Amino acid sequence: MTEFISIEDHGPVRLITMNRADKKNALTHAMYAALADGIAGTDADPALRVTVITGAADSFTSGNDLADFAAPQPAVRPVERFLQTIATAKKPLFAAVNGLAVGVGVTMLLHCDVVYAAPEATFTMPFTNLALVPEAGSSLLMPRLAGHQRASEILLFGEPFDAAEAARIGIVNRVVPRAGLVAFALERAALLATKAPAAVRLTKQLLKSAGTNVSDRIEEEGAIFQAQMKTAEAAEAFTAFRERRKPDFSKFG
Ligand code: COA
Repeated sequence: MTEFISIEDHGPVRLITMNRADKKNALTHAMYAALADGIAGTDADPALRVTVITGAADSFTSGNDLADFAAPQPAVRPVERFLQTIATAKKPLFAAVNGLAVGVGVTMLLHCDVVYAAPEATFTMPFTNLALVPEAGSSLLMPRLAGHQRASEILLFGEPFDAAEAARIGIVNRVVPRAGLVAFALERAALLATKAPAAVRLTKQLLKSAGTNVSDRIEEEGAIFQAQMKTAEAAEAFTAFRERRKPDFSKFG
């Protein structure tokens, strides 16, 4: 446990805040562990449906704590567990990027499903400046999102870019005024939480497993689609349509 990660559940939406404002929310081993536990906790709890990650005060996170980088590394690095957790999370993961995002503060966004950012947010991947290489799968995910040339410029030069550019590239869905950013992300997450939970998880799973060829994908989708048609949540969706009412998916896990 660490006091630098705070977790609040708002009904079915878990809000996780990186909360170490005096160090721009730089992430220590303990903070990675708490983030991983918080996100895994959403997956494990049938009452929770979406996780939203944000940062306290004026920063999202300045990335890995540089002192922790320099210190002897524990045998099992919590950062690895955190990265595997966000890469494989079954339920949707949102980020509300309220300010500067550096290093893993940007690469973690590539694993999120929906990202909202304040106009003040800045994005930096300074790996080569620190004589390091991209982490968290970003050498694969950035070119997939931005194209090779744009990803190369960002990852080779390590220069900051702003929220408008992040939205153009596709890292950010929408730029939202900072004062209402977290409320907006929570509202969108709450809306997603009203949808059929298995259908949401399966859609995320399909979206995340890019790389398969199209005909294999048509088959894979078909199998999941047919199975999903037979579920109680699909029955509720069709019944609600017939009865001209909104479907109620709250009882499904
Ligand atoms: N690890 C540890 N401490 C960090 C940190 C990090 N990644 N980022 C910022 N801090 C600390 C600073 O050392 C400073 O601490 P101090 O007040 O005890 O001296 C405090 O947070 C505020 O940072 P400061 O540099 O004064 O703020 P700034 O607004 O001028 O600059 C940054 C902010 C993020 C641009 C700058 O701190 C920076 O470049 N940090 C390193 C980012 C980085 O390289 N991360 C790793 C990526 S792989």
